[in-house]
Amino acid sequence: MKKLIELTPEEAASYITNGMTVGFSGFTPAGAAKVVPKAIAKFAKEEHDSGRDFKIGVITGASTGDSLDGELARADAVAWRTPYQSDKFLRKNINLGKTKFFDMHLSQLPQNLRYGFLGKVDVAVIEASEVQADGKIILTTSVGASPTLARVADKVIIELNTSHQESLYGLHDIYEPLDPPLRRPINLCRCDARIGTEYVQIDPAKIVGVVASKQPDEIGGFRESDETTMKIGENVATFLASEMRSGRIPPEFLPIQSGVGNIANAVLGALGENEEIPTFEMYSEVIQDSVIALMKEDKIKFASATSLTLSPAVLKQTYDNYEYFKRRLLLRPQEISNNPEVIRRLGIISINTAIEVDIFGNVNSTHVMGKEMMNGIGGSGDFTRNAFISIFTCPSIAKGGAISTIVPFVSHLDHSEHSVQVLITEQGIADLRAKDPQGRATAIINNCVHPEYREQLLEYFQSFKGGHTPQTLKTAFQMHERFLEHKDMRIPVSPTV
Ligand code: COA
Repeated sequence: MKKLIELTPEEAASYITNGMTVGFSGFTPAGAAKVVPKAIAKFAKEEHDSGRDFKIGVITGASTGDSLDGELARADAVAWRTPYQSDKFLRKNINLGKTKFFDMHLSQLPQNLRYGFLGKVDVAVIEASEVQADGKIILTTSVGASPTLARVADKVIIELNTSHQESLYGLHDIYEPLDPPLRRPINLCRCDARIGTEYVQIDPAKIVGVVASKQPDEIGGFRESDETTMKIGENVATFLASEMRSGRIPPEFLPIQSGVGNIANAVLGALGENEEIPTFEMYSEVIQDSVIALMKEDKIKFASATSLTLSPAVLKQTYDNYEYFKRRLLLRPQEISNNPEVIRRLGIISINTAIEVDIFGNVNSTHVMGKEMMNGIGGSGDFTRNAFISIFTCPSIAKGGAISTIVPFVSHLDHSEHSVQVLITEQGIADLRAKDPQGRATAIINNCVHPEYREQLLEYFQSFKGGHTPQTLKTAFQMHERFLEHKDMRIPVSPTV
């Protein structure tokens, strides 16, 4: 059997040349490649300083850490990027048009790679906790798209990271579906079911070398919950408890998917505090700090996801009590954690965060004022469209009140009114199920809009004459236009004489 060759980060980076497509492990900063992308960024800067071009196409599972997206963006080394990012430097390059970004439902990335929709992947750089000479790779804190990236790439570089728990064997369940017309049902009927292997198997001949790394995942902590996020969380818990009381959610409850970010972390914390909600399971994309806290209290009995996105202190606690957590955690490829077939079968309750919502329940998750990319759609579409109940949360206002997150018409559409069933802000709950557009608008304006914007939106709604959907094209974007002109969506009060 071929012995694996040790490489320095610089030697590994030399396999990557201008114009290549490179797949990196990582789903959030968890399990993201770190030392090789940094070396690529350094090389890119040197090439640029010498007047030569150097830009690559970058594919990852989702967002990553500063050593990958940050370093490469600062070196202006990313020609194009997919499928989700949350790095401020990369975001800037995307919005300046320096990096072409195309967004995608995260469950679709691996199959799009296999179908050849993204072209050839030249090199995959994969973080592993263990690699064997026969091509077995044990991943670290995320699975994401790594199994597929490693399999379809021409060459594979392993970042062997020794900062993790000594053996992560058994944390992962790797299953890659066959492609049509050979695809079979995904035989997953419980959150904790295993259908695959503990390792990724690739052809060892493709592994060009192994780079040693000790760099921990670059995960920042979350903002402490404030009054607004706590109230949103309470409202979500109140809604779900009332659904249980009415018998629409069965007494054993249903698995929860919770989105990414500060609000999602706070919402989950609030679910844990509600005494009517029984111990539950998660079938989600990302396991954040609040899941571990609730697991310690036995409020969450099992969590299946594709990444363990924990702040350093919480990751340490998890590793320190690994025997306890190992039985309660499972990481799957994003194609399975976010799989529409499985989400619908298990009856997932999805809870995601919106940037902007309109009075009919259309949701914008990605663009500020219709044009500036924030992060991307992530898995929110995978879950929302297929959920048992799909919930969106957001504060009713942003930027100190200068923006109403609820507007007459969204400036960019990610989730249509057909997929969004419940909207929850700190103001209240709008249950949009079985309501026509006028009923939805009434529920959202009365229950979810901030008092400072209620009159304005009511006036817009009431100016509607005839038709099925209370929409007036001429004034649909008046709040956005007012913000772009005056940096405030509120109607200025005319001075009294
Ligand atoms: N207009 C302008 N800016 C807005 C806004 C609006 N309507 N709504 C929110 N923002 C800004 C906030 O002010 C904040 O900016 P800051 O960082 O400068 O303070 C930023 O957006 C993030 O908002 P925050 O309230 O902190 O929420 P968050 O951290 O929970 O993130 C999303 C919210 C929507 C950006 C995030 O959830 C996301 O990227 N979602 C898409 C992907 C997804 O849903 N994945 C989950 C699937 S598992």
